[in-house]
Amino acid sequence: MLFKQQALLRQKLFVLGSLAIGSVLYLVARVGTLDRLQPICPIESRLPPPEPEQIPLRTLQFKRGLLHELRKGNATKEQIRLHNLVQQLPQAIIIGVRKGGTRALLEMLNLHPAVVKASQEIHFFDNDQNYARGIDWYREKMPFSFPHQITIEKSPAYFITEEVPERIFKMNSSIKLLIIVREPTTRAVSDYTQVLEGKERKNKTYHKFEKLAIDSNTCEVNTKYKAVRTSIYTKHLERWLKYFPVEQFHIVDGDRLITDPLPELRLVERFLNLPSRITQYNLYFNATRGFYCLRFNIVFNKCLAGSKGRIHPEVDPTVVAKLQKFFHPFNQKFYQITGRTFSWP
Ligand code: A3P
Repeated sequence: MLFKQQALLRQKLFVLGSLAIGSVLYLVARVGTLDRLQPICPIESRLPPPEPEQIPLRTLQFKRGLLHELRKGNATKEQIRLHNLVQQLPQAIIIGVRKGGTRALLEMLNLHPAVVKASQEIHFFDNDQNYARGIDWYREKMPFSFPHQITIEKSPAYFITEEVPERIFKMNSSIKLLIIVREPTTRAVSDYTQVLEGKERKNKTYHKFEKLAIDSNTCEVNTKYKAVRTSIYTKHLERWLKYFPVEQFHIVDGDRLITDPLPELRLVERFLNLPSRITQYNLYFNATRGFYCLRFNIVFNKCLAGSKGRIHPEVDPTVVAKLQKFFHPFNQKFYQITGRTFSWP
């Protein structure tokens, strides 16, 4: 009997010991993570200090399941009324840039309990037919949310479409605008890769990137090629600045969102005046995918679709160098306007 009790005691001590060691290891890892999160970018100085918690975030986390049911069309009108659910116009929009990481940014922000996302690209402001349907049509495309949550949509075509800034301004002149950018030549190649894949799917042939990006008559960069034009970020931004002050934009580093997403998300949380809630727990690196994936809770996690993170074709290094030289002055201007500097060549 005594022997049995001693064995039981030893077992308990072992479990407690393991828990204590586990906790110490966790704390060490966490401190290491926090060290890496020190913001390094001057855009910081423009961001407001983190908000004290105003939103009952725990409640929202708990009620997320209900919103999920709603998306599947399972919630009743009674539940919608009972929980005060509404379809709100977006308070923030990811306006671009195509292939900058817009989907990853939207999905990652959606980890925040105070954020709800419009899953589809709505193309309300860039598509004349949709725009003619009116603002109520747009609102009905938005997900159900609790009144103190913020709704975000992303349609990357907004950034480069002439009419969009004025149309968004007419809807809400104080809306927050997110732009996620990548090194311009890489973005252009990514853009090309997406189009190439579409052509191949339809068994169509397509030109090589080099042929599209360089004008064969002049041997200069072909500025008529859309993938090149889209990467001249400053040109597009200048059009937006005719309507919105620079403080209403936040520039996200799409290259860093790939390699180390959390610091970028922290900056966005601050820009959106949200308490910091997305943590390292919510993001884990999936070696098979080669990207960070999302963890909502102990049972639900997901990676982005395979169409995100395609393998790019190899591009002639002289063409890459030519493009980088071409983008350089535009990049400098972009840094100057936005207050965010990148180490692009
Ligand atoms: P590539 O396919 O060139 O790698 P968008 O959503 O705007 O179309 O951007 C797509 C890009 O998002 C991808 O470009 C990929 O590199 C990038 N991305 C950033 N974070 C990602 C993630 N966690 N998973 C998959 N792709 C991610």
